[in-house]
Amino acid sequence: MTSVASGLSQRLARRLAPRGIIFDLDGVLCFTDRFHYEAWLDCAREVEAPFDWTINDRLRGVSRMESLEIILEGSPHDYSDAEKERLATEKNERYRALLAQMTPEDMDPAARAMLRGLREAGFKLAVGSSSKNAPYILERLQATDLFDAVIDGSQIERSKPDPEVFLRAADALGLEPGECLVVEDAVAGLEAARAGGMACVGVGRGAWPLHCAPDARVEDVSELASLLERPGSPAAPEAEIPGGRTWWKEAVVYQIYPRSFYDANGDGIGDLRGIIAKLDYLSALGVDVVWLNPIYRSPGVDNGYDISDYRSILDTFGTMDDFDELLAALHARGMRLVMDLVVNHTSDQHPWFIASKQNPAGEFRDFYIWRDPAPDGGAPNNWGSCFGGSAWTFDEASGQYYLHLFTPEQPDLNWENPRVRDEVFDMMDFWFKKGIDGFRMDVISLISKAGFEDGPVRADGLWGDYEPQCANGPRVHEYLHEMHERVLTHYDDMTVGENAAVTPELACLYAGFDREELDMAFQFELMDVDGGESRKWTRDWDWSLADIKRVMTRWQETLEGRAWNALFWGNHDQPRVVSRFGDTSTDARRKLSAKMLATCLYLMQGTPYIFQGDEIAMTNCVFTGIDEIDDVHTRNAFAELMEAGLVEPDEMMEIINYRSREHARTPMPWSAETNGGFTEGTPWHALNPNYDKINVEESLADADSVFHYYRRLIAVRRAHEVLVYGRYRLIASTDEHVYAYERLLGGTRALIACNFGGEAVAFDLPEDWTGARTILANYGNRGDGELRPFEALVLICEDERKE
Ligand code: GLC
Ligand code: CA
Repeated sequence: MTSVASGLSQRLARRLAPRGIIFDLDGVLCFTDRFHYEAWLDCAREVEAPFDWTINDRLRGVSRMESLEIILEGSPHDYSDAEKERLATEKNERYRALLAQMTPEDMDPAARAMLRGLREAGFKLAVGSSSKNAPYILERLQATDLFDAVIDGSQIERSKPDPEVFLRAADALGLEPGECLVVEDAVAGLEAARAGGMACVGVGRGAWPLHCAPDARVEDVSELASLLERPGSPAAPEAEIPGGRTWWKEAVVYQIYPRSFYDANGDGIGDLRGIIAKLDYLSALGVDVVWLNPIYRSPGVDNGYDISDYRSILDTFGTMDDFDELLAALHARGMRLVMDLVVNHTSDQHPWFIASKQNPAGEFRDFYIWRDPAPDGGAPNNWGSCFGGSAWTFDEASGQYYLHLFTPEQPDLNWENPRVRDEVFDMMDFWFKKGIDGFRMDVISLISKAGFEDGPVRADGLWGDYEPQCANGPRVHEYLHEMHERVLTHYDDMTVGENAAVTPELACLYAGFDREELDMAFQFELMDVDGGESRKWTRDWDWSLADIKRVMTRWQETLEGRAWNALFWGNHDQPRVVSRFGDTSTDARRKLSAKMLATCLYLMQGTPYIFQGDEIAMTNCVFTGIDEIDDVHTRNAFAELMEAGLVEPDEMMEIINYRSREHARTPMPWSAETNGGFTEGTPWHALNPNYDKINVEESLADADSVFHYYRRLIAVRRAHEVLVYGRYRLIASTDEHVYAYERLLGGTRALIACNFGGEAVAFDLPEDWTGARTILANYGNRGDGELRPFEALVLICEDERKE
């Protein structure tokens, strides 16, 4: 059973290692749709209605055929209620007559194969049904000898949701309800399983109401085996997985910007109770980890990245009790929580800084970086802050300057002082002891400063660049190793550093498997292909697919076997990915390109990070004036560049509309209602006006939406180990429109092909791929010899490749 449990979806495996599986899919397993089909066909003939229904593919789940009402719409005759009743009864009689002729051998072969596999893997199997036709079908299923228990619930007096059938099944298997996994295709059944305290897998393409989101979902029952035992791709030997299997490599992370996620108390600002209210949504998406942007006490100069108390929750977001509840609720759903760790700097309102400033001779002075003025009385050097102005602020009282790489309200901590490190590590322990699962570490590559010499003058000509002295400084690895030894090694956690100015080689130092520092590093080279980091406030934002391929391939190849990638298209500091690298000119293109972009990046080797709203393909806004902008970075840049006469206001707004991180911070649109259902009050920030058509409700309701595609993408990655651990190999390397690569692990290989352009392009599958299985396709199928505009395809092949 161990291999089975290890192959089980992480989220389920942590909650339970099921010993029994209870199917509420009697009809699906027997593929009774063909009998419904015959019976409705007869009915249609009788009422002289056209009949063009096609039978769903085998084992779909939710496969019941359309109803009498639809047939009658096509009929030239009118029928009274009594006649309708008769037609329905006749249909059912015909259906039962056909069922009665069914033999055990007629059972769907794919279902048989799957059930046999599950039995061989050691599961006990039961099937139950409380439908009126149950006795007919169950008799056949019993005769297959594949089930340890068959429960006929057609006689049970019912009140919904009623777990009676499932409880009887568990009992018949000799198991506790909590040891059983229910496989269901109907909402009522899911509700019943929940009432019985059982975990559930939902079958079918459609949307599940959030109150009973399944623990895992498959589109087709035969995929169940892949959820439970990775069929077809036998687990690769551990030796093929450098650094070994870990939960965080297999996980998908969802980033929440709490201020803009969901407001539960009507004050217009998102909060912790708002997140709790939406956990079923995240569970439905299938993500494993939630990363929260800072929620600590903070004056909010940089929306929480200026912390005044690391151990308290900002009142606006809620209380520590709310936090504890959120953490417990996540864990109850098998999800984990990662917090933001902001320790390059604090707020100037932090007691340490207040003391440091007040008393130059006191013990806290050296918690921060103070320097005497330059001989001319000016700042100690030419560094500009990342958010405009000098990186130094003068303190009249003591006659010294303090360093702040960001705003003056964010003084840099002095990591050279061992007491600073003690405090930071102690604080990390405080959160781990509460049960959190990891940290995302803000600008962590800046914590060690090499020296304080002038930097080269930046492109804007205004200031010197601090990066050569501050990024990847001489003691940064020593500090992180110490952090690992003193804190991280004691927990089963995940860590990801935000690493400005990091190369793949450096990432292998920060996050190398054998380094005992961090688990992953966020890189900035991908965000720079359109100049987003190095030419931030210019209009020069051309990008080419060749650059994306070059950057990503270098990261994939350099880290292979040595370190683990963190895969992201955006976050709270970036504009919206679909506006940036996709196409928002029509709704269809927006959806296709959003799906393609996710496929291309998230199936590379590394842990995917989804930024809130990208799963519904939210877009950039059109801001018309600087007063619509809240972000301190954008506002300061606007003021500074304007004052220096470097850009005109119109040009600056155009740049902001392409590049500003403001776009990421507009509230989540949950529905088409007022303020997108984000708040009942006045939202702290205006919503993107397109919320009437781009919103969660719409995306949940449409089975072909970006949301449901993301969900499938996550499920497919989870089901195929090759997509997590496989080696990356670029193919079609010089193609200007297509990004195609393979993943290879053991005898299994996957191919991912994505057209980044808005025109169809010729694309022949490499020869040894023509017979492969398509496991994901944003057009729903595979084209012939071409990739359509923004098409994305994922194929898998389990044959050993002939070399
Ligand atoms: C990081 C954060 C950003 C913040 C800055 C200063 O880059 O992601 O939002 O403004 O650090 O803390
Ligand atoms: Ca609120």
